[in-house]
Amino acid sequence: MTVQDLPKIELHLHLEGAAPPAFIRGLAKEKKIDISGIFDEKGAYKYKDFWDFLKVYEAATTVLQSPQDFYRLTRAVLEECVANQVIYAETFLAPDFCGGGDLIAWKDYLAAIEQAATEMRDETGIILKGIPTCVRHFGPDQAKKTAICASETASSFITGFGMGGDEAFGRQGDFTYAFDMAREAKLQLTSHAGEWGGPESVRDAIRDLGVTRIGHGVRAIEDDALIQEILEKDVVLEVCPGSNVALKVYKNLSDHPIAKLRERGVKVTVSTDDPPFFHTTMRKEFDDLSQTFDWDAQDFKALNQTALDAAFCDAATRAELK
Ligand code: ADE
Ligand code: ZN
Repeated sequence: MTVQDLPKIELHLHLEGAAPPAFIRGLAKEKKIDISGIFDEKGAYKYKDFWDFLKVYEAATTVLQSPQDFYRLTRAVLEECVANQVIYAETFLAPDFCGGGDLIAWKDYLAAIEQAATEMRDETGIILKGIPTCVRHFGPDQAKKTAICASETASSFITGFGMGGDEAFGRQGDFTYAFDMAREAKLQLTSHAGEWGGPESVRDAIRDLGVTRIGHGVRAIEDDALIQEILEKDVVLEVCPGSNVALKVYKNLSDHPIAKLRERGVKVTVSTDDPPFFHTTMRKEFDDLSQTFDWDAQDFKALNQTALDAAFCDAATRAELK
């Protein structure tokens, strides 16, 4: 068995960001929407840099217009997860793209997503949990609406709350209200930080939002005191190496700090973020990491265990996955 064949736990996967380009093109054709400009000549998503990536991402979501579209998307994404031996995944869901943050509409979208997840679980065994996520550059008021959607639908399926989007927009602390609301609803918390923002952004997310996990967080390596704080507070990083290289946070995987973070004792996990955008899969991530850092099956089993321990699920689900 190679490391790629190991069962995998994935904690950082954006549902719309995992949409295969052919799936999005198919919906665009059905709905007669012209988004041909977001694809290159080979049919892959095309973008220049992170900010352009966010625009292309949002353009792709314009064809996802109904609960049924999200039902189909969820099934397509989970099929890809299963093909990569992912046995448990958490996916970021954006109520902003599922009815514009309106609670009534969100409940319909969520029912369709959960239906697809339940079917796929029955058919393949894969377990999915959902983490409603606000989009940072849509601002704190919209984030409150997202937090209401998340809090009102907290369940054994909706187990967390998060934030993605443009890390250069505002500060983490602008979103405290939304995160407080989610915490009150017993949701577990994560925020994208330390991808485009430096160590300060990670520090802010821990202090101002009270998150237990950080999306990316890799730039914490630039600050020894922050590493110490991460260790003391037992914060877990959702590291997405292929995403960071594709978006040029780091030039090559060999420059990526994931191995150094591990050596320092930081709890790191491995995910794909938006796999078709970054030409990656979980199998590829495992393969690339083993080639670059000489990690063996024991290393990957340890990473999976860290991910399982940090998963936003209950003890019964964790026990099932052991
Ligand atoms: N939304 C989807 N992918 C993202 C990323 N890598 N960073 C921030 N927001 C995102
Ligand atoms: Zn992300």
